Amino acid sequence: MTSTPHPNRDLSYAELNRTRRSWLGYTGEVVPDELLREIVAEATLAPSGSNLQPWRFVVAGPDQLDRFADGLGSNFDKVREAGTLLVVFGDPNAVESSDRAHDFYDSGKTSRRDFAVRNASLAAMNLMLAAWSHGVATRPMIGFEPFLVREAAKMPRSCIPVVAMAVGYPELDREQPERDRAPVDDVLTFLS
Ligand SMILES: Cc1cc2nc3c(=O)[nH]c(=O)nc-3n(C[C@H](O)[C@H](O)[C@H](O)COP(=O)(O)O)c2cc1C
Repeated sequence: MTSTPHPNRDLSYAELNRTRRSWLGYTGEVVPDELLREIVAEATLAPSGSNLQPWRFVVAGPDQLDRFADGLGSNFDKVREAGTLLVVFGDPNAVESSDRAHDFYDSGKTSRRDFAVRNASLAAMNLMLAAWSHGVATRPMIGFEPFLVREAAKMPRSCIPVVAMAVGYPELDREQPERDRAPVDDVLTFLS
């Protein structure tokens, strides 16, 4: 598929990062699968421990959304408005594909579950910036019932739903809530 690149593709990283929001308000136009595939491919350029890439992505379009209603609870309306739900999963069993990683992650230094969640979280952030670079807005959410979401996504019991996202084309004239951040010196320590 060839399409005209979105103007956000020309933004610097700084601008892309500054203008990304957990978007509220969507046009209702559904993001095509081919573009979602491209966004996920870009997300998977995220780093991961031993390069094991313990992330999985499940996309539910408008026709599949209803099965997530119970699992998403009050967040469901945001997904319905966006048109697409994308769930990023972590796969703790990915460590089994490497003897070295298997020994490390099962030796008590860190759990398989932590391993999966940490790595999948990095991919999730990459995904949100990748989406925005294509003019696609996201709203990440962890306010959901993990068992129900995993079941609706038809994922194995071992996989952990790390973050669910509403994904869609943003209503650009819709004012977004203030996004305050703590001053950097409140969260940064240089050791001396
Ligand atoms: C891990 C995580 C969980 C979140 N959970 C929810 C949620 O359940 N529902 C929701 O509406 N927004 C949720 N958000 C969106 C945050 O409220 C939002 O990221 C934050 O207010 C900062 O705004 P910004 O992303 O526009 O910079 C979540 C964001 C993150 C990163």
